Formats: sequence, structure tokens, C-alpha cells
Amino acid sequence: MKMPKLEMGDLVANMPIVQGGMGVGISMSGLAGAVMKEGGIGVIASVMIGMFEEDFFKNHIEANIRAFKSEIRKAREQSDGILGVNIMVAISEFSNMVKTAIDEKVDIIFSGAGLPLNLPQYLTKNSKTKLVPIVSSGRAAKLLIKKWWSKYQYIPDAFVVEGPMAGGHLGFKVEQLKDEKYSLQNLVKEVIEAVKEFEIKLKKKIPIIAAGGIFTGNNIKEFLKLGVSGVQMATRFVATDECDANIAFKQAYVNAKKDDTIIIKSPVGMPGRALKNKYLEDVNDGKKKPYSCPYQCIVTCDYKTSPYCIASVLLNAQKGNFKHGYAFAGENTYKVNEIIPVKELMNKLQQEYDEQ
Ligand SMILES: Cc1cc2nc3c(=O)[nH]c(=O)nc-3n(C[C@H](O)[C@H](O)[C@H](O)COP(=O)(O)O)c2cc1C
Repeated sequence: MKMPKLEMGDLVANMPIVQGGMGVGISMSGLAGAVMKEGGIGVIASVMIGMFEEDFFKNHIEANIRAFKSEIRKAREQSDGILGVNIMVAISEFSNMVKTAIDEKVDIIFSGAGLPLNLPQYLTKNSKTKLVPIVSSGRAAKLLIKKWWSKYQYIPDAFVVEGPMAGGHLGFKVEQLKDEKYSLQNLVKEVIEAVKEFEIKLKKKIPIIAAGGIFTGNNIKEFLKLGVSGVQMATRFVATDECDANIAFKQAYVNAKKDDTIIIKSPVGMPGRALKNKYLEDVNDGKKKPYSCPYQCIVTCDYKTSPYCIASVLLNAQKGNFKHGYAFAGENTYKVNEIIPVKELMNKLQQEYDEQ
């Protein structure tokens, strides 16, 4: 049976799959465009997207906006499918990036790593861009609905609920990561329950999208049964031909074993999940030194005491330079065993959905 479509107001994706935004050059127009073509929702991550521009170190704000615009347009050239962008609340250029996305008529802004309390203020009279916060609790979902409704008379167009198995920065305390109470299944139930009263009161469906550790079509089926309208997947999309990272980054995923994903203390003040390597061992051993920072890309980054610049280190990994970098990765990275085209991955997910 075909997977159900994902409906978000007037937007309808043929497959209930959102490709998770992956910052510093992992999900740009290449990956997003390919996912859009196959009927999923493609997502370009905005954080430090300008690092690929020649003048970035001289003029990072302009470089970020220019690159973001150009990637959005490139994705649109590839497909007329649904295009989203991921803009983390914690980035210092949050408002510039949101305004750019709305000007460029992006279909959906996904926003997490903090609560996007003022996101609706950027909508213009004719804009159709949908706003989807990424949360990790029912409490956060409730708070956002109440704040947005009282201040802007706007309700989130959907929520992504991101659980503890996701890759990259995590919205949990380290001790919560292994606690069953915070399993994605439990969080999803909690958020569905939390939004119910508002859906009834405000007469609007708020679709829930589950993220973090979803890997197979069977996993998708399990979460749809729990009542979500779609899933967001990132790790599995890294191992595709179209993913914008260097082949060595993808190969690191293929080579990863079960205990290779570890939790790190990120300089931005949140735990993060990454693939362990010599670089991270050196950080642990105190061999890396604080550095100077010309732009403070993440508001919460304590660059004066942090042993490395997270943006530079992630960029190095994106380019395949693991001597000076490491890769963010989800808990299920060890399940990746091949690099395939997005089309084949989407077909596989559909097949796996049909099994059993
Ligand atoms: C390499 C990598 C980079 C990521 N970068 C971002 C990001 O820039 N912004 C964000 O909100 N989430 C980011 N994430 C989280 C994903 O968008 C996604 O929600 C999560 O990884 C889903 O779990 P999965 O990887 O198990 O499918 C990143 C994840 C990975 C693996």
C-alpha cells in the first residue's frame, strides 16, 4: 500500500517524508531538490551556508544571505515540489535568514535549537510560507501555540517532534537521552495530546512530524500508527548520491559501527551526537586550544573558552577533512551500509513500508 500523503493546510507532499535540515553544507540544493523531485519535502539548512562563498571571512552576513538565496533558487530549478528551509533559533543571523526565506517564497520554515517565539512576526501580508517549530516536549509545543496565538493570532502549521536519537544538537540533558520517558514514541504521544485541545478550540489540524532514529519504511509505519502525519529523516539521507557533503563524509557513515556514535558537549552549550574520531579524542584530552572568532555564528557559543570553532570543524568534515573535523550523525548511523540515489532510497522506504 502506498504511504499516505502529508498534508499541511494547502500543501500536500506525495510522501510523508521530510528530509531533515543538516547544517554547514550537508543539505543544500542538491539533496533538497532530489527529495522534492521524489515527492518528499526537501530542506536546505541555513546555518553557515555562506562558508562556501569566497568573501565569507570578509563579509559573512552578505555571504550567508547570498548563498542561501542562491541555494533556494537552485532547488526550485530542479523541481516544483515542496521546499523547506531549516533556520535554527540560536543562529545570530536568525532574522536575516527568516526574512530571506519568506522573500524567496519558501514553502516551509522549520525552526528549532531554541523556541522560535517570534517567528510569525516576519510573515508579510501575502506570504504563504508555513511555520513549523521543532520541539522536544509537549510543554514546548503548548507554550509556542499559546504565545503565537496571543501575540500574532497565528498557530504553528505543524510541529516536528525531535527525540533523543537524532543527529547533531539535541534538545535534551545528557541524562535524559537514555531515559525511556523521553523516547520518541512517548514524546510523540505527549505532543499529540498537548495540541489536541487547541486543534478543537481553534478548529485547525496541527500535523505532527516525528524525527530522530527513524530509519526504515517499517519505522515510518510504526510512527504513522501512533498518529503522526509524517516523519523527518536525516541520517539516512546523508548516504545518498545527491547529499551535498563530500564522499568521505558519506563513507564515514557507511563505515560506522554501533558504538561509533557518541554524545559530545558542543561549544554552543547543548549536547550533540557525532561520530567519534581522533579529532574528538584530542578535544577530550585537552589538546585543542581556545581560538578567536570573527563572527559568533551561534548566539550561545562561548568561543572564549571553547576548544574549537564548531562551524569550521563541521565545514572541514563536510569537505572530507576529518583530521580537522568530525561529523554529526544520528544514533542509527551504523545501519547505513550503502550510498544510493535518493530515488532508490525513496523506493526502498516504500518497499519496507509494505513489508509485514
Ligand atoms: C549531519 C547532521 C546535521 C544536522 N544539522 C541540523 C541543523 O542544522 N538544524 C537542525 O535543526 N537539525 C539538524 N540536524 C537534525 C536533523 O535535521 C534531524 O532532525 C535528525 O537528525 C533526525 O534524526 P535521524 O538523523 O536519526 O533521521 C542534523 C542532523 C545531522 C545528522
